[in-house]
Amino acid sequence: MDTERIKLERLKDKVMTVHEAVGFFENGMVVGASGFTKAGDSKVMLEALAERAKNEDIKITLMTGASLGHDTDGKLAAAGALKKRMPFQVDRTLRNKINGGEVLFIDQHLSESAELLHNKNLPPVDIAVIEVAYIDRDGSLVPTTSVGNTATFAELAEKIIIEINTAISMEVYGIHDIYKPENYPHRNVIPIVAPWNKIGRKTISVNPDKIVGIVFTDKKDSPADVTDPDEKTVAIAAHILNFFENEVQLGHLTDRLQPLQVGIGKVANAVLTGFKTSNFYDLTMFSEVLQDSTFDLIDAGKLSFASASSITVSENCYDRVFNNLQKYRDKIVLRPQNISNTPGLIRRLGIIAINTAIEFDIYGNVNSTHISGSKIMNGIGGSGDFARNAYLSVFVTQAASKNNTISHVLPMVSHVDHTEHDVDVLVTDIGLADLRGLAPRERAQKIIDNCVHPDFREELQSYFDRACERGGHTPHLLEEAFSWHLRLAETGTMKR
Ligand code: COA
Repeated sequence: MDTERIKLERLKDKVMTVHEAVGFFENGMVVGASGFTKAGDSKVMLEALAERAKNEDIKITLMTGASLGHDTDGKLAAAGALKKRMPFQVDRTLRNKINGGEVLFIDQHLSESAELLHNKNLPPVDIAVIEVAYIDRDGSLVPTTSVGNTATFAELAEKIIIEINTAISMEVYGIHDIYKPENYPHRNVIPIVAPWNKIGRKTISVNPDKIVGIVFTDKKDSPADVTDPDEKTVAIAAHILNFFENEVQLGHLTDRLQPLQVGIGKVANAVLTGFKTSNFYDLTMFSEVLQDSTFDLIDAGKLSFASASSITVSENCYDRVFNNLQKYRDKIVLRPQNISNTPGLIRRLGIIAINTAIEFDIYGNVNSTHISGSKIMNGIGGSGDFARNAYLSVFVTQAASKNNTISHVLPMVSHVDHTEHDVDVLVTDIGLADLRGLAPRERAQKIIDNCVHPDFREELQSYFDRACERGGHTPHLLEEAFSWHLRLAETGTMKR
């Protein structure tokens, strides 16, 4: 036990075993846990709860920042420990339980959970489970690799269980910027006018009397899956970079671009990697997640500052960053997700947002969350916070998948996350469609010409032409609009 990490003397007698601490959970409780895209999540308490739930009828509502690592969501779901989950998940077992109707899921904009909690529009949090690097002398908390909703949980929860993670160096102190917007009706401006502005405290303030238990762990975060760029992701990245170069030539952007938000995953990685060999320089990020490619760009001298809510990186990159914090600490900041994803700041800073679609339609509506209209994949995450408010909102997807049996460009999306009004640019491996300034009929033709896989182009053109003959501002043949999804369900392919 490393009690050097508990600097407030009177909290030292709160140290207990995980077995003792798990006894604080009761059936029906609302639990708020740290963790954002696998970073800074509970490593032992939630897992112990899953073990308890194997032999006992105990179900909780679990709120986090975003997804958890170490298969924690899967273990909780498999043990029947989850009644309701929000605001985001990426776990296969949990996904199946949600789609089977056994676990309720609220798919929420990541900026909103804290707002809903502060405004008492969600049930109060009974217990917060918070991973920290250490507890400071005033009892305040030094977070680890993410901030997420932790500051909100710490403030509002009735009881708090702390997980001190000794795998994280105490030098992590200072990379966080904890700011709490005032409650309504007294909300003031959030004084960030550039990604590098730090406006809050370095630690999360908390009432130490609420801390009922302290446990220790030395488990690192689950590593991010970093896949090498492939033919399709390289093609998508090239279309985006060419587009940016053209925007610079047109005088719409400078070589510094605007602060970037890039979703996680292989396309995001390919786009960021593409910046390494580009002419762009002095780039900045105002995003949710810092990933391997962020640190590659910093090392390459291309990226001067990155703001986000978590650091989610591969194992190699984890050591590179956390063993060299002195090198990176002036170039990064981690903020609560109701700051990193605040719509007002995204609009003010003029963010270029690049996120991934599952499918989009000929008018530019985007589905990022559901397979064939009903089955949740992961959730909207922060893509909606950024897409609607960005200076430039870009969505990417492969034109077709599964041996070209599935087209990702469709007559009508089977679920809408980002409406045609929020989307500026669509990109597939086939090409890019800049939709700005185009009316629906112009948009449809541009998307068909530029983004559709050749195997599906003729049929989509025919759908659009026949719809136009029938008329309308946004022409459709409702009896055919979902025929591609139906055909896939019936025959295993969208092709005729
Ligand atoms: N029917 C059946 N399957 C379909 C389908 C359809 N109509 N449309 C797409 N799919 C399948 C694809 O074939 C592919 O399957 P595979 O994984 O077996 O190859 C899968 O759905 C989509 O995978 P892929 O295209 O590789 O996407 P991805 O791994 O890059 O993830 C999202 C895409 C949209 C699911 C993911 O980016 C996400 O969850 N986004 C929302 C959250 C977000 O954007 N956060 C932003 C900031 S972090």
